[in-house]
Amino acid sequence: MTVNALPQTELDLEVLVARKEAIADDVVRLTFRHPGGEPLPPWLPGAHLDLVLQPGLVRQYSLCGDPGDRSVLEVAVLRERASRGGSELVHTGLHAGDLVRIRGPRNHFPLVAAQRYLFIAGGIGITPIVPMIAAADEAGAEWQLMYGGRTRSSMAFHQELSQKYGDRVRICPRDEGGLPELRDLFATAPEGTSVYCCGPEALLTDAERRHADRPSVSLHVERFSPKENNDPGTEFEVELARSGITVTVPADRSILEVAEDAGVPVLSSCQEGVCGTCETAVLEGVPDHRDSVLTEDEQAANDTMMICVSRACGRRLVLDL
Ligand code: FES
Repeated sequence: MTVNALPQTELDLEVLVARKEAIADDVVRLTFRHPGGEPLPPWLPGAHLDLVLQPGLVRQYSLCGDPGDRSVLEVAVLRERASRGGSELVHTGLHAGDLVRIRGPRNHFPLVAAQRYLFIAGGIGITPIVPMIAAADEAGAEWQLMYGGRTRSSMAFHQELSQKYGDRVRICPRDEGGLPELRDLFATAPEGTSVYCCGPEALLTDAERRHADRPSVSLHVERFSPKENNDPGTEFEVELARSGITVTVPADRSILEVAEDAGVPVLSSCQEGVCGTCETAVLEGVPDHRDSVLTEDEQAANDTMMICVSRACGRRLVLDL
């Protein structure tokens, strides 16, 4: 996993929007090409791109195309009803022929090798799952997909998936049969199954609850929206070891903001704990992890933290910044 203590080698360039097409209600697929026809960077299923839509308006979208095709990168974007500007701009202000800046790809949702997978997707959460299924199928693994959504017409990729993979794909539009039931899926998943889940918070929370009763399967989730946290936090000190300075982080500010004010540059993007860009190595102290990127095990290891949202459990942290 890339942390700020390591050299950042990710791509940061303008690409051409080669195609923009509606693929479901309120969902468009964007196909990017290099303006000079050069190959685009390699990626693996689960990776996402940053789209820099305007200065200060950066959004993360999962790659949903074929990792074997280096000539294009593809993302699918839902027009959010409560858009804070990003998806609205993609839908109304970005057109085929435009240039747009991208950063990444980054992958905090990698597909681990397994004999058996259970994929669970809700709505636009299907995007990282599409290339995962292709990879699992290609590897000869057993898998099934449970894909829920509002209506069939709002569910991107459902036809392609059903046509290609038949009854391994279960499509569950809410207006036809109600929300998918995860209890039985988890209860009947064979031991050792790797479960990958992406979608709205309620689905992820339900999956986490069901997983608590089935520790013999592994659960991997990806969140697009930040976890709720109403704890205001308290003031603490952070030593920025490489910079040789110590700063005080007040209760109402993030480590990221205070470090930048002190003249220490940190790569960041979402500033909500969902993208992983600001991941920073922890040298001493115990972080109060508030991100949606690190797994439970990674958080428990306390080796790194997302400094845009996470804080300190005690009075002091030492970071590799
Ligand atoms: S900037 Fe996205 S996790 Fe911190």
